[in-house]
Amino acid sequence: MANLQTNFAGIQSPNPFWLASAPPTNMGSMVERAFDAGWGGAVWKTIGEPIRNVCSRLSSIDGSSTQRMIGLNNIELISDRSTEVNLREMAQCKRKFPKHALIASLMVESKREAWHDIVKRAQDVGVDGFELNFGCPHGMSERGMGSAMGQVPEYAQMVTEWVKEVATVPVIVKLTPNITSILAPGRAAQLGGADAVSLINTINSVTSVDLDTFTPNPNVGGLSAHGGYCGPAVKPIALNMVSELARDDVFNLPISGIGGIKDWRDAAEFLLLGSGTVQVCTQVMHYGYRIVEDMIDGLSNYLDEKGMASVTELVGKSVPRVQNWSDLDLNFHTVARIDHDKCIQCNLCHIACEDGAHQCIPLVQIGDKRFPVVDESECVGCNLCSLVCPVPDCITMVSLEDRGAPLTWKQFTNGDAPVQATTEDHGGVGMASISHVPEGTPSEVVKGAISL
Ligand SMILES: Cc1cc2nc3c(=O)[nH]c(=O)nc-3n(C[C@H](O)[C@H](O)[C@H](O)COP(=O)(O)O)c2cc1C
Ligand code: SF4
Ligand code: SF4
Repeated sequence: MANLQTNFAGIQSPNPFWLASAPPTNMGSMVERAFDAGWGGAVWKTIGEPIRNVCSRLSSIDGSSTQRMIGLNNIELISDRSTEVNLREMAQCKRKFPKHALIASLMVESKREAWHDIVKRAQDVGVDGFELNFGCPHGMSERGMGSAMGQVPEYAQMVTEWVKEVATVPVIVKLTPNITSILAPGRAAQLGGADAVSLINTINSVTSVDLDTFTPNPNVGGLSAHGGYCGPAVKPIALNMVSELARDDVFNLPISGIGGIKDWRDAAEFLLLGSGTVQVCTQVMHYGYRIVEDMIDGLSNYLDEKGMASVTELVGKSVPRVQNWSDLDLNFHTVARIDHDKCIQCNLCHIACEDGAHQCIPLVQIGDKRFPVVDESECVGCNLCSLVCPVPDCITMVSLEDRGAPLTWKQFTNGDAPVQATTEDHGGVGMASISHVPEGTPSEVVKGAISL
């Protein structure tokens, strides 16, 4: 069995699966249940000057009636429990689970003494590290904290420096995605002496408006406010930001990846793009702590399959495969192929290609049925038809062997590269489609369809 043990910026945990700072880490009894369930680490719900929350405070976007809450929006603030109570429970939790990673998430006003005070008090109870919440985008930011801090690199650097003046355990800076480029705050955290960063916190959002009351959700007595968006819908944004930092020449700190992780596959993707650990919130709020069992099994099996002895072998493996657009091969060419044995003739691919792509999936009448047929000479390989097809593996994208020599945009514009391949250079690609129509299709029908 592959070794899932993780050393993240000096913080040890039995596996890379941590709970993010949020309702699932609100108190000691919850974190202890989570550790019992198998979570390797937990970032405690952010502590600071206790706040008062509004009611209600969550709203969501459903994927479909069977896939609820693909995006979650919240206007909850930091812990509403006293720092004293939180610290007492952290101490107890750490005593019971000495091998698990227990991180204190902190947010106080922008004063050196306030940060020194909370850091000293929290490290006295034996936490393994700190996470500085420079990311909360609602409520706290109006008070000059959270994302108000993370959006100004100089502030983020300054507060990190204050914390590092007194911290004796590793300091993780949690970054906000509500910025233009993640590189500036990431580099600022590094300049401030941070040991690691975590990202992303939630994204500014208004999920919906009630069409009868005219009030956006969540409804707080007829009014609402923008919140922070998270859950599976934000994964692509989080993955992009993680990979941007991971491939930056200047930035070199460990990354804890957060945002939309719902299973071991999502977690593996974050690890591949440079995360040393991952953190989860929404999926646990939806399905409970027990999801970690599948995450542990799934990741272990995957590592075994890939012949990797340890999770660290996976970290960052995909980073070199993320490049600037101008470094991609303009001559790489795929075309769509339809498996007509699987096709249910729903015509979605035809409609999508007609109105959203390149009009190269005509419908061919064969007997009493009309089949979609790809004219490969016109197909630009955009993927749209394979994305809309409801039948798994019915449309696959096939790479054409017979194409021009690799050619990047940089080479193309420098004029020092091989001549760009033309459609003709692909060697009768259009003809290839004739062998990918339903068996028994009369050739004149196919030719007629393709010449449409
Ligand atoms: C209700 C709620 C409360 C949250 N509270 C905090 C918090 O106190 N501190 C913090 O750093 N992040 C907080 N977060 C953000 C999460 O830690 C996490 O960054 C975000 O939800 C993205 O992860 P996910 O897509 O797995 O939910 C909160 C999120 C939610 C939904
Ligand atoms: S890949 Fe794009 S262009 Fe090609 S057939 Fe599908 S939708 Fe049309
Ligand atoms: S979308 Fe898929 S199932 Fe529907 S017609 Fe096209 S190939 Fe067939």
